[in-house]
Amino acid sequence: MITFDKVSKIYQRDWTALDDVSFHIDKGEFVFVCGPTGAGKTTILRLIYKYEEPTKGTIKVMGENLRLMKKKELPKLRRKIGVIFQDFKLLQDRTLEENVLFALEVTDTPPKNMKKKLMEILTYLRLSHKKYAFPYQLSGGEQQKVSIARALVRDPYILLADEPTGNLDSRSSQDILEILMDINYKGTTVIMATHNLNIVKKMKKRMLRIENGKLVRDK
Ligand SMILES: Nc1ncnc2c1ncn2[C@@H]1O[C@H](COP(=O)(O)OP(=O)(O)OP(=O)(O)O)[C@@H](O)[C@H]1O
Ligand SMILES: [Mg+2]
Repeated sequence: MITFDKVSKIYQRDWTALDDVSFHIDKGEFVFVCGPTGAGKTTILRLIYKYEEPTKGTIKVMGENLRLMKKKELPKLRRKIGVIFQDFKLLQDRTLEENVLFALEVTDTPPKNMKKKLMEILTYLRLSHKKYAFPYQLSGGEQQKVSIARALVRDPYILLADEPTGNLDSRSSQDILEILMDINYKGTTVIMATHNLNIVKKMKKRMLRIENGKLVRDK
C-alpha cells in the first residue's frame, strides 16, 4: 500500500526532517508513527499525500511512484486518502454540517447521496445533534470528530491521522482511538502519528519510531 525506499527530506535552510527512511505498510494495517516533537512524524504523513516532495528516495502509494505522478492525477490520489490534521483545519465560518459537506463537494458524489452519507457519518460519530453548530461552539474533542468525519465521508483507502488525540482528555482520546480501530477493521489502512507512548503501548499495534528524522525502530 505504502513504501518508503531510502527517503530523505531536507527542508529549506538545510533542516533535515527525515534521513534515509525505509518501510513498507501493507493494505489493512494499523501503524503508529511515534517519536518526540520535531522528529519528522508530520513530514512522513505529508509525503504520503504528496503535500511535500522527498529530497531523496522513492515513495510508492497504492502502486504509484509519487515522483512520476502527473499533476492532474493528484486529485485522484488525494480523494483516496483521508487526512486528519494536527490542528483540525476546520472552516470557522461554516457549520459542522457544512464543513463535512465541503469535503464531499470536491468529489462527484450526487447531491442525494451526499446528504445520506453525511447523516450516516454524523450518526456514527454521535455528532448529529450538533450539526448546525460552528467550530467555536464545539469542544476540542468535538472539533476533532468533525475533522474525522470530513476525512471519512469519502471512504478513503488510507487514513492519515496526525496527533488526533493531541489535545484531548483520556476519555475522548479513547473514543477517537476506538473510532480509528473500527475504521481499520472495516478495511481502511490507518497511519496515526503521536508522541503519546501510553496510547501506543496499550494498543499492541505496529510502531514506527522516529527520532531526529531517523527510523530507529519498527516493531
Ligand atoms: N515547512 C517546513 N520548513 C522548514 N522546516 C520544517 C518544515 N516543516 C517541518 N520542518 C522541520 O522538520 C522537522 C520535523 O518536523 P515535523 O513537523 O515532521 O515533526 P513532528 O514529528 O510532526 O513534530 P510534532 O510532534 O511537534 O508535531 C522539525 O524540526 C521542523 O522544524
Ligand atoms: Mg507533527
